[in-house]
Amino acid sequence: MLKKIQQWRGKEPSGNYSKEDILQMPVPEHIAIIMDGNGRWAQKRALPRIAGHHEGMKTVRKITICANELGVKALTMYAFSTENWKRPKMEVEYLMKLPEEFLSTFLPELVEKNVKVQLMGNRDAIPNHTLNAVDKAIEETKHNTGLTLNFALNYGSRDEIVHAVRNIVDDVKNGKIIESEINESLFSGYLYSHALPDPDLLIRTSGELRLSNFMLWQLAYTEFYFSDVLWPDFSEQELYRAIATFQKRGRRFGGI
Ligand code: IPE
Ligand code: IPE
Ligand code: MG
Repeated sequence: MLKKIQQWRGKEPSGNYSKEDILQMPVPEHIAIIMDGNGRWAQKRALPRIAGHHEGMKTVRKITICANELGVKALTMYAFSTENWKRPKMEVEYLMKLPEEFLSTFLPELVEKNVKVQLMGNRDAIPNHTLNAVDKAIEETKHNTGLTLNFALNYGSRDEIVHAVRNIVDDVKNGKIIESEINESLFSGYLYSHALPDPDLLIRTSGELRLSNFMLWQLAYTEFYFSDVLWPDFSEQELYRAIATFQKRGRRFGGI
């Protein structure tokens, strides 16, 4: 075993990995991905930005299937931020149609592969047609026990935290909880992500080195992996590289 790990540690993250390589070491339970670079992918091909989003949707399928096969328990995908409303109306409308398109094509496959769909974000501003498609997928997959595919849609971490604080204040006022009960674990339970463990690994594609209002609370001890690859070009091999890099890190959580 030690020899295997030594050989393993010698491999460069840029190397090629097989599924078997990855499965030699523990795989992260929860991977969160900031899927970035769709617009640039399209621009490079002189295509409209929405062509990049359409291509990116195929990557979501590919990476979901791959993560599920590796035994990853949860995959959170940042699909639309609370700041993305600033984009041109036509692009926003397209992005709000994508979940329907994605689910109308892939829901049967997700059901068959035992994937459970969840939504993380502020439902208030999401159009009904989008919510209906997502809710249908949540309902149809609610008993599945494989990977949880958690879509961050109209998600902003600051919005999530403010929303949690408001609900905690309400619950103190109406006597559901008492002030002295407020601690980190109770607070986590009020976040949109309450059903999931904190991510072990965060991946951001397209070379941008920032969080863009993503899971600020939950990422406190997460390992970060940044890839220059644009999201539509992200592949199973890129995911293996990210996981292999994670497997070489020493997580200390403040200890020694
Ligand atoms: C990520 O790709 C998808 C969303 C934010 C919805 P972008 O659309 O941000 O692509 P770039 O960053 O402009 O290339
Ligand atoms: C973050 O990407 C949001 C999503 C991937 C959904 P952005 O492209 O919106 O982030 P910024 O604007 O470059 O920080
Ligand atoms: Mg971007």
